[in-house]
Amino acid sequence: MRMNPKGENKRHKNDLYSTPKNAIKPITPYLCRDSGIWEPADGNGAISSTLEAYGFDNIVRTDITTGQDFFKEYKLLAPQIVTNPPYSCATEFLLHAMSLKPKKIILLLRLAFLESVKRYSIFKSSEYMPLERVLVFSNRLKFRIEGSRSGAGMVPYAWFIWGEGHLRHTSKPEIDWVLASKA
Ligand SMILES: C[S@@+](CC[C@H](N)C(=O)[O-])C[C@H]1O[C@@H](n2cnc3c(N)ncnc32)[C@H](O)[C@@H]1O
Repeated sequence: MRMNPKGENKRHKNDLYSTPKNAIKPITPYLCRDSGIWEPADGNGAISSTLEAYGFDNIVRTDITTGQDFFKEYKLLAPQIVTNPPYSCATEFLLHAMSLKPKKIILLLRLAFLESVKRYSIFKSSEYMPLERVLVFSNRLKFRIEGSRSGAGMVPYAWFIWGEGHLRHTSKPEIDWVLASKA
């Protein structure tokens, strides 16, 4: 992440940090091949094209840069939502995704998304879709920042999986550890 002279973080416009393609395989066992996938913040298509290469078809790709603001989408375009959302509004992205009532939401997020008072009720209250699983990356992901050749790998990340079928009252989220394969 770049810093400005005041030492503040200067993020890329629209938060375009492409997901490293070697970080996508761990979610494939949790995606249903028989129903469609929606990538609502598709960016350069890192997730959608990699899933396609793994044999998933029926992927709907939208992004604000192609005129589709996720927050203005009120219709579910596919039952499974998968993305690495813009960091600056990741919680709002999750809440909007839940409001569309998908079968599954899979988001690549900072591991620290697990904390904060802001998100306490999202994880604890039965009003929200239950968190099924967290896949923690044991190695650091190297994000490619638009316009530069490489990205930093300083922040721990995880895949967070919410599912409508998970019974909150009988089970708690599972945690597992995964590795991004060598690029
Ligand atoms: C962190 S990048 C991830 C890109 C892609 N999902 C990936 O994993 O490589 C975030 C993406 O969110 C898009 N974006 C930002 N705000 C958005 C919004 N309100 N609706 C849809 N896309 C948005 C940006 O244009 C950018 O492509």
